Amino acid sequence: MEQLPFGIDFGGTGIKGAPVDLGQGEFAAERERIRTPSPSTPEAVAEVFVELLGHFPDSRGAVGVTVPGVVRHGVVHSAANIDRAWIGTDADRLFTEATGRDVHVVNDADAAGLAEARYGAAKGRRGLVIVTTLGTGIGSALVHDGVLVPNSELGHLEIDGHDAESRAANSVREREGLSMQDWAGRLTRYYSTLEMLFSPDLIVVGGGVSKQSAEFLPLIDIETEIVPATLRNKAGVVGAALYATENLDG
Ligand code: BGC
Repeated sequence: MEQLPFGIDFGGTGIKGAPVDLGQGEFAAERERIRTPSPSTPEAVAEVFVELLGHFPDSRGAVGVTVPGVVRHGVVHSAANIDRAWIGTDADRLFTEATGRDVHVVNDADAAGLAEARYGAAKGRRGLVIVTTLGTGIGSALVHDGVLVPNSELGHLEIDGHDAESRAANSVREREGLSMQDWAGRLTRYYSTLEMLFSPDLIVVGGGVSKQSAEFLPLIDIETEIVPATLRNKAGVVGAALYATENLDG
């Protein structure tokens, strides 16, 4: 387990982590979960990472961390659904100093996109794949011939005068009590805009709600092939570990 990379999925309610077997795209040990501190400032989150890594004393490899915001070369540049203190934080440096490990942060949807392209629903697919995550917000990853174009932020497209995620995220479905039929109508508007702008070869739908995909994916009326993610709640941890190991932040 010593050289295995470690993946951490930092979300609004939980911080989850496990060592990852990159040959299989699987957890190499049972995952641990710790509640996200409130407020979830970078320093408070760094303390949780130290605690989390302490559960796996045998793991010594690089550490990948997902962040639900724009990340460029280790620095967080946006915070739509997290504490604003993240903006401008050099998270690679903060976490590397706090944990004593080689830490690399990556946008959460980009991590999911990498994992789905390598091991999941988009494995072996050529051309342009758009992986979206439907959760509190909408995350997106653009993957072309297996190569990620980071920080696409397509959840914030302005559609009909609205920030797209404020109409079509899963949290909005829950908050407004939308039926699957009504939500699928909003998702059709959203995905047909992606279709018009990017002409993708495949759209992958991730996020926790993807396990209910049978209830809403067939109701989304677009031309492009659209499929559920297959890594489900493993995608963030596995994708982050992959990102850290392959030094995809350059
Ligand atoms: C953020 C993205 C993130 C997505 C999913 C959006 O509000 O801007 O960076 O990937 O939510 O968490």
